[in-house]
Amino acid sequence: MSISTDVIPSNQAFLSDNMAGASPEIAQAVAAAAAGYALSYGDDPFTGSVRHRLSEIFEREVEVFPVSTGTAANCLGLAALTPPWGSVLCHPASHINVDECGAPEFFTGGAKLVTVPGHDSKIDPDALREAVRRRAGDVHSVQPSVVSISQATERGSVYALDEIRRPATIAKDAGLRCHMDGARFANALDHLGVTPAEMTWQAGIDVLSFGATKNGAMTADVIVSFDPALASELAFRAKRAGQLASKMRFHTVQLDAYLTDGLWLRNARRANTMAARLGDGLKAIPAPNSSAARRPTSSSAACPSRQPKGFSRRATPSTTIAGRRASSASSPPSLTPPKTSTSFWTRSAATPADHRPEPARRLAQRAAAAAPSTPITLGTTCCGSGKCRRWRSAVLRETGTASGRRPAYAQHVGAGTARTACPRPLPGRG
Ligand SMILES: Cc1ncc(COP(=O)(O)O)c(C=O)c1O
Repeated sequence: MSISTDVIPSNQAFLSDNMAGASPEIAQAVAAAAAGYALSYGDDPFTGSVRHRLSEIFEREVEVFPVSTGTAANCLGLAALTPPWGSVLCHPASHINVDECGAPEFFTGGAKLVTVPGHDSKIDPDALREAVRRRAGDVHSVQPSVVSISQATERGSVYALDEIRRPATIAKDAGLRCHMDGARFANALDHLGVTPAEMTWQAGIDVLSFGATKNGAMTADVIVSFDPALASELAFRAKRAGQLASKMRFHTVQLDAYLTDGLWLRNARRANTMAARLGDGLKAIPAPNSSAARRPTSSSAACPSRQPKGFSRRATPSTTIAGRRASSASSPPSLTPPKTSTSFWTRSAATPADHRPEPARRLAQRAAAAAPSTPITLGTTCCGSGKCRRWRSAVLRETGTASGRRPAYAQHVGAGTARTACPRPLPGRG
């Protein structure tokens, strides 16, 4: 029996970049590597090649530890940077804080995640300055040990170089280490147009989670350490965490192909270009009920707050695929809407008297033509606590199985609204 991989209609594949397939170059390289024999546990030629390529890319010797998930990369990297009584300073929206099931605490042996706020999912330097000193030396409190930033952030915003250097300097001055969650490292790099070295160790980063899975690989990310002193600890931690793959070549052949001939940068550039294009398209759709067009922004997502007459919802992009705002050196634009944003309004095909400009109309018509015939699944029903009837009814309505009664709950599922409706956070969708 053959299983069709085309089970998700492409117009619903915007939910996450994790839904994408793999680059043909990577798939072919894996198939070729499967043909023969190779030494195990990382002594194969592909693993050696990846170390060599990453050292070239980062313009210095680096230690590399291939892993199968971004969570493993983050948690093992952090574990090497903090004692169990330490704290990891991170943004409230960071993946390590909201989407890793306590794995950072587990792998660090109990270090505490302490959140530091900031606009656009970026840690605010002033808040960080205060956080790195908080109860330092007090035996009754966890000790600030490492700052972790996501580049690009979970919201799709990107730290400019000086926005990396600033928190890193604050951290270093206070004796802390710096970690970067680079699940979407290549997208940020392409966006900034800087070198990998500039965006990491030259800016003060000690350990990087270098993502590949979300940018064309199948199941391969890699911890890159810029501190040779951490090599032995990371090696033992990786093994202990079940991340020293016996057939490591199947991880590293993916990474090797990913880094060959700039595939990783080409993929990122294409994703960013598509994100910008999609963002422009969304912006071209004026909001109804208003003479002035409401522009979707990264902070408001592409959702007017109420469902207008004659408009229906479409599944929207999650990561690395939405609007790019005007660039500025100190504060680069967001690439994406918030991850919790799940819908935007588009005019139904049957809606009469469409007075929008021609390009917006064509875009809406295309979206309508591509409307899924099957129910849209927006994830699981809220928190399952039984107290989220509004959210639940919104989901049911979305899937077309409810009576069609309009839920009192605000029509879109923006992060703030959802939190007020739901006693627990929305289920993450990676
Ligand atoms: C910013 C960020 N970091 C890390 C990860 C972890 O990846 P994984 O799901 O492979 O553990 C994700 C996943 O989407 C992510 O968005």
